Amino acid sequence: MDEGSHYTFSVSKRLEGRVAIVTGGGHGIGKAYARRLAEDGAAVVIAELDGSAAERVAAEIGGLAVATDVADKPSVDNMARRALERFGRIDVLVNNAAIFATVPMSRAPFDEIDPAEWDRMMAVNLRGTWLACRAVIPQMRNQRYGKIINISSSTAIKGSASRIHYVTSKAGIIGFTKTLAMEVGKDNICVNCIAPGSTLSEENADDALIKYRQAAAGTRALQRMERPEDLVGAVAFFASSDSDFITGQTLVVDGGACLH
Ligand SMILES: NC(=O)c1ccc[n+]([C@@H]2O[C@H](COP(=O)([O-])OP(=O)(O)OC[C@H]3O[C@@H](n4cnc5c(N)ncnc54)[C@H](O)[C@@H]3O)[C@@H](O)[C@H]2O)c1
Repeated sequence: MDEGSHYTFSVSKRLEGRVAIVTGGGHGIGKAYARRLAEDGAAVVIAELDGSAAERVAAEIGGLAVATDVADKPSVDNMARRALERFGRIDVLVNNAAIFATVPMSRAPFDEIDPAEWDRMMAVNLRGTWLACRAVIPQMRNQRYGKIINISSSTAIKGSASRIHYVTSKAGIIGFTKTLAMEVGKDNICVNCIAPGSTLSEENADDALIKYRQAAAGTRALQRMERPEDLVGAVAFFASSDSDFITGQTLVVDGGACLH
């Protein structure tokens, strides 16, 4: 355990009566978001490419698993329909699904990345976020209430050599967040973004990977490794009424590496 690393359990049920969808909630950081939103009282839908992982998390937190490919419009529309059928409303959408670790990306110089992988990266990370917003916003408009939380990356702000397709997609999320916030503010829907730093999200990480993640500690004001639990408070905040007058913002949660 790193020095200073701790997990504080939520002390309130401030999301009681709320319904939250977490895309990519079957693994890694998305699983931690789903757990925290459930602890805070929300009914949680795990919309995940890996259907059995979604089932496991849903069973643990008492949520609903919906096997979903966010890049595919019928699949995403089904996600929203199933959430509504089961819970009757949709208050929170966390656009966390991405090509990253569970569905891995190539790390290569800009001129060696396969164009097909570039296209799939944009389809999942960007179009997937857009499609999920399109699927839930009609219901949020009916409710005149909604909280959309997009997941970018601190690499979008500072750059990161050797995965230009990923970083480009995550930079797009920041502009997407600002623009959508402008378009749906009149409906009382907030759209915000979280940019995590390098986080040990992998299940069964080997020593080399732990070392790689630990190396980021030296670049931070708070000099320790980042874990999924370090990110859940920001999601809980943007999902709750405590952030009702905040929209279009990107919050970097990286222990103070990227100070902007
Ligand atoms: N771990 C980090 O260092 C880090 C840093 C910055 C940002 N992020 C972002 O945080 C989010 C979570 O990342 P993670 O580290 O937990 O990685 P991860 O790969 O474990 O999580 C992504 C999840 O999305 C799912 N997924 C992939 N393609 C999908 C699709 N087409 N439809 C539905 N689900 C799909 C995966 O199965 C997985 O559960 C991602 O958006 C990632 O870009 C991670």
